[in-house]
Amino acid sequence: MSKPVLRSEYQKSVANYWNTNQNDPVNLLLGHVDGYYHHHYGIGDVDWSVLEAPEAERDDRIIRELHRLEHAQANYLLDQMGEVKPEACLLDAGSGRGGTSVMAHERFGCHVDGVSISQYQVDFANGQAEKRGIQENVKYHFCNMLDTGFDEASRDVIWTNETTMYVDLNKLFTEFARLLKDGGRYVCITGCSNDIIGGRSRAVSQIDAKYICNIHPRSHYFKALAANGLVPIKVEDLTPTTIPYWELRAKSSVATGVEDPFLTAYKEGSFHYLLIVAERMVR
Ligand SMILES: C[S@@+](CC[C@H](N)C(=O)[O-])C[C@H]1O[C@@H](n2cnc3c(N)ncnc32)[C@H](O)[C@@H]1O
Repeated sequence: MSKPVLRSEYQKSVANYWNTNQNDPVNLLLGHVDGYYHHHYGIGDVDWSVLEAPEAERDDRIIRELHRLEHAQANYLLDQMGEVKPEACLLDAGSGRGGTSVMAHERFGCHVDGVSISQYQVDFANGQAEKRGIQENVKYHFCNMLDTGFDEASRDVIWTNETTMYVDLNKLFTEFARLLKDGGRYVCITGCSNDIIGGRSRAVSQIDAKYICNIHPRSHYFKALAANGLVPIKVEDLTPTTIPYWELRAKSSVATGVEDPFLTAYKEGSFHYLLIVAERMVR
């Protein structure tokens, strides 16, 4: 008998969060701008002129600007994948409403599987793929990224875009090492706590509470990668490039209240927005 997708009360509560926050405007309104639905944050310089727009247009201009920055984040993640051939097979681990998978297929022409433990998100994302006529190449599955059931050494690239804080890193990277081909690439964008200054700050705990996640300390990423034969080739602190996004979001109608903890944590140095690119050791 196959194992259930949701293995613990914790995973059930995470799935429930994403299944029941369907109408959260910060995700839905931004996606409606051009049909790429993201559940991650933005990077890059903000066009602050949107705040000066006439009252009737102001909100719409801010939403478009936030979406542009989130889209730029996904494009930057794709930039890290190196050469990806059309016959390549990619995995979007924790795929949300699926925007980044669509972008990967459009950029590289490759096959992408996305996995999420939210059945609602999987159905939504498959609907989007169908709408675009790319359902043969971009498929979303109700599946646990800790144990995907996909074939060993079947993946050229795997990425996680703000999903690693929901799982045990060692288990996750064991599964990724199994799935990646020799020399295959893993790209990660994540928020992580700064453990060189000690335990987690209050602001980081507030972010955890809001999203029912367990933000990992920075050092844990590198220990778990090394333990699983995944060797970093690039590490970049994206914190300075994401702070403007949060400053704009705090002034928008789609602010959720989590903006203050994010800005506090980033500015006090207890939290980083980190990019890690790693490659799998030859077997
Ligand atoms: C913050 S969202 C990020 C979504 C997407 N990566 C994006 O950039 O739009 C976190 C996602 O992780 C997924 N997730 C959490 N734990 C998971 C698990 N064990 N297996 C698969 N997906 C998981 C959630 O269902 C949700 O889709």
